[in-house]
Amino acid sequence: MHAGEELQHAIKIAKQIDYLGGMPGVIPKPVITSNDPVELLKADLQNERVTVGRYRERIRQAEAMGEYALSGTLRAIIVQEQEHEIDLCAALGIDVPLPKNPTSGTNVAAK
Ligand SMILES: [Fe+2]
Ligand SMILES: [Fe+2]
Repeated sequence: MHAGEELQHAIKIAKQIDYLGGMPGVIPKPVITSNDPVELLKADLQNERVTVGRYRERIRQAEAMGEYALSGTLRAIIVQEQEHEIDLCAALGIDVPLPKNPTSGTNVAAK
């Protein structure tokens, strides 16, 4: 379910980049591998937290440029990324996601 949503995010963002006359980057970040499912879930959670922080920053940048369609697209995506974060916290038995840094928008532990 998450993977299908991530693919849709990539497609939506690629369309926005195309609209702005850019070219999407195609070099993925390295993927963490482990035989321990809990370690994999923790790595996933950390990635989602970093991702949420980056979307917060990109939304602020889009709004500052008056790119409201881009902002709307990013806002719809960040809702799903936060759901991923919540799902992974639930799977790991973590009650509440970490508080966000109000200035940077990133999770406190996601630096
Ligand atoms: Fe995503
Ligand atoms: Fe996600």
